Amino acid sequence: MIDYSNLQSTSAEPEASSMIETFRAIGYSIETAIADIIDNSITAGAKNIWIDYDWKGPKTTLSILDDGNGMNNEQLIHAMRPGSKNPLVDRPADDLGRFGLGLKTASFSQSRKFTVISKSIDYKAVLWSWDLDYVNKKKSWKLIRYVPDEERWIKKIESFNSGTYVIWWDLDRLTKDTSEDSEESKSKFLRTMDSVKSHLSMVFHRYIDDGLKIFFRERLITSWDPFMFGVDGLQTKPETRLEAGQIKIKGFVLPHRSKLTAEQYNYGKGPKDSWTAHQGFYVYRNRRLLVAGDWLDLFKKEVHYDLCRIQVDLPNNFDTDWQIDIKKSIARPPSKYTESIIALAKEVRNQAVEVYRHKGKVLKRKLASDEYFPFWEERARHGKRFYKINRNHPLLSELYSKSGDLKRDIEKVIQFIEETIPIPLITLQESENEKPHGQPFEGIDHNAIKETMQKLFNNFVFSGFSKEKAKARILNTEPFNFYPEYIEFLTNE
Ligand SMILES: Nc1ncnc2c1ncn2[C@@H]1O[C@H](COP(=O)(O)OP(=O)(O)OP(=O)(O)O)[C@@H](O)[C@H]1O
Ligand SMILES: [Mg+2]
Repeated sequence: MIDYSNLQSTSAEPEASSMIETFRAIGYSIETAIADIIDNSITAGAKNIWIDYDWKGPKTTLSILDDGNGMNNEQLIHAMRPGSKNPLVDRPADDLGRFGLGLKTASFSQSRKFTVISKSIDYKAVLWSWDLDYVNKKKSWKLIRYVPDEERWIKKIESFNSGTYVIWWDLDRLTKDTSEDSEESKSKFLRTMDSVKSHLSMVFHRYIDDGLKIFFRERLITSWDPFMFGVDGLQTKPETRLEAGQIKIKGFVLPHRSKLTAEQYNYGKGPKDSWTAHQGFYVYRNRRLLVAGDWLDLFKKEVHYDLCRIQVDLPNNFDTDWQIDIKKSIARPPSKYTESIIALAKEVRNQAVEVYRHKGKVLKRKLASDEYFPFWEERARHGKRFYKINRNHPLLSELYSKSGDLKRDIEKVIQFIEETIPIPLITLQESENEKPHGQPFEGIDHNAIKETMQKLFNNFVFSGFSKEKAKARILNTEPFNFYPEYIEFLTNE
């Protein structure tokens, strides 16, 4: 133990403006920043939240108002303090906060100047602002009591029993180099606002479904449910529980496009406007979505997993374990359950691929092609068995047609391969080994399969086959017949 009583010490307080500039670099987007402010409103028990903006070029303001518990003067000053709560302290189960930073970091990420006006029941509204220019000038952590157009905001909040207004009034990042009259700046801003809206409809979808009202410029935001609960053909896996049931994981396989109406299919594309972007884990912390469609570095996104979405529910007492970040946009499973999560996800992923496999097989039956192209063929020579590579296999015939001067050399190598296949060894292993032998390309990257399939498809279509016929031929060609799930994704460029 160190005896601190007699040690020399000196103050090393953070330099206010540099520290705030560092906050600004945490990496929030406007979407994640607003969501972080809404977290506070929900924690404060708000039933209604109003997001509003007033486009005025560089003078644009954006405000988030709630009818939650609000704060009195002392509480507000405390709330404006960076690090207002110790992240290690236990929080009530429904608290969406952790670091005591979100209000400040999210606001500073978007604005140089922002104000919080709050009213708790039986108190008058109180107002404090952070102004980075003032902090710079004074070189100290000092709030000011100022906001442009003060009366307007105060009047609004005084009409509530309690609530909180967060007003961002120098949105330098969003409105840099814009002018109020420029149509281009305005439509860019409006597009950003649209994206905020759809982000919120996703992040808070469960709260919205439970009755929370979030208004965006007076219009109610509707929820976006990644699992399209209630849609016909949705497959749900049984729930897996970890940590004595505190963590819940549930896999979903969404219906194939052919089972959805055009409207449902578009709905499934979600705020990221893509099924592929939306596959993966959906990690919720207290019903608030942190991660929306991400394989958490455990797998890659690939089109044939488009229908796979996995819901993970965490309470807020696993924040450290799951490495929840200040922005509430990252969660990483602790290594102790990586393996079980991978196993579980594989099961859901396989079930999702099965939908496409099934489709591929149905297509194969429907398009039944008379020609089958094996890769290897059995031949008899002087009363003995030999195995030859099928020269009519589309891959071979293409290679030969392009090989020019190399044709004889290639033919020779192929002949050597054929003449030296270790049949006795294979036969011996087959009878003595317990390990079954794998199917072609099993357990390795399938890019070669997918790329070759696409190339064949292009060639077939180029040489005059209809798209359907080209697919039928591929489904009848070894080893592609093992992978009917990729057929759906062949594109005719
Ligand atoms: N809209 C609000 N209504 C009532 N109190 C609020 C509101 N916003 C913030 N507060 C108070 O201010 C405190 C600080 O908020 P801040 O977002 O900075 O940190 P946090 O929510 O505690 O943690 P995190 O950094 O994880 O968001 C909150 O703990 C809460 O007490
Ligand atoms: Mg917060």
